[in-house]
Amino acid sequence: MAENQQQAGNPAQWSSRFAFIMAAVGSAVGLGNIWKFPYIVGENGGGAFVLVYLACIAVIGLPIMIAEVMLGRRAGHSPIGTMAAVARAEGRSRGWQGVGIMVTLTAFIILSFYSVIAGWTLPYILRAVGGGFSGIAAEESGALFDGLLASPGQLLLWHTVVMGLTVLVSAGGVRHGLERVITKLMPALFVLLLILVGYAMTSGHFGEAVTFLFKPDFSALTAEAVLVALGHAFFTLSLASGAMMAYGAYLKKEVPIVRTSITVALLDTGVALLAGLAIFPIVFAYGLAPGEGPGLIFVTLPVAFGQMPGGSFFATLFFVLLLFAAWTSSISMLESLVSYLNEKGVSRVKAAVGGGLVAWLVGITTVLSLNDWSGFAPLGMFERFEGKTLFDLYDYLTANIMMPLGALLTAIFVGWKMKPEHSAVELGRWHRLWFPVVRYLSPIAVLIVFYFNLR
Ligand code: TRP
Repeated sequence: MAENQQQAGNPAQWSSRFAFIMAAVGSAVGLGNIWKFPYIVGENGGGAFVLVYLACIAVIGLPIMIAEVMLGRRAGHSPIGTMAAVARAEGRSRGWQGVGIMVTLTAFIILSFYSVIAGWTLPYILRAVGGGFSGIAAEESGALFDGLLASPGQLLLWHTVVMGLTVLVSAGGVRHGLERVITKLMPALFVLLLILVGYAMTSGHFGEAVTFLFKPDFSALTAEAVLVALGHAFFTLSLASGAMMAYGAYLKKEVPIVRTSITVALLDTGVALLAGLAIFPIVFAYGLAPGEGPGLIFVTLPVAFGQMPGGSFFATLFFVLLLFAAWTSSISMLESLVSYLNEKGVSRVKAAVGGGLVAWLVGITTVLSLNDWSGFAPLGMFERFEGKTLFDLYDYLTANIMMPLGALLTAIFVGWKMKPEHSAVELGRWHRLWFPVVRYLSPIAVLIVFYFNLR
């Protein structure tokens, strides 16, 4: 009977390789691809930075993603349960469970502030629908954005909506919640993105954007930029935050992990590059600057939309796309914790609501960091953290410490603590290529970044 149920469809397993790919790409493709990637390319001078980033994805990001999916599928538990189970099976210290705890915590902290940023898309969608960007000048656009950030009430409202949407899907379970929603949102996202790129091609400045993104000028490349590229490679693939491990646990045994992970990494990278190809042509077409930093999407782009024919329509599509991307990522951030609580006997609904509620509460400190508490730097007595708000600290702690550390420990575990024959069972003939990379190259690369980041 249980066997039969398994055949007919285990509700705690993806129904197909396609479903896993959509979920993993949904996790990977987020604000990181559409908001952050274009602006860090802009800040770091374009093509050369893109090349370094692609190398980081291929050499460090992908091998670690494969490691995480492999661990998840091998044990079939939450990240915490998976690390405990594999460590036990390999005769290693129980302490390895700590890696599971850390990555779960990382995802949770990221969720708390990610939901606040994702919330920004909602007032932008509403404004775009109402034609509120048409003819808008740069100062006006800047003032709108600043006004949003200055309003705790508004930020809290949108943060609440995003967290609510996240909890709603998570509570539905793997097959009936996550898979059902994500397999619709992601194809929609691809269509929206292609429409926007198609439109950008007609702007007359597409070639300029292609040159900017792909023509490497190594003189513009700094050591700092290399670190940014590697840090972003982890972030964009949702590594060291349990997401890929949790999703790997729902993967059927017959699905080839390496090929599937390559597909996920390619799609994630493809979306980031396409986002650049959608955004930069219109930024250039209206004589705006590509290196505006975080305001590129929320300040510069609305100005461009406001001048173009059909701008309200395309602005709406763009911000809906951004919302979908952030939503499917948020769902996966909650999954590490929800799957763990679920394992401990808490129902999915209770786990999702409880986890979401706590992340929402922590998120309020990010909301306030942007306005009322913007002068509050709790670690300001250390030079490194001078002027850093709570929000800045969450970002710093996760991106510069917890994610590299999680990735390093994961690489050490699979490269040195787990028997290679065991990982080979999961990975098949690709194992020979993957193993030396994850054993030597990945940990050394992460250590180098760590050193430079903390120096
Ligand atoms: N990959 C997501 C993005 O590019 C961000 C992210 C980082 C993430 N860590 C995560 C998403 C963990 C889900 C789970 O926006």
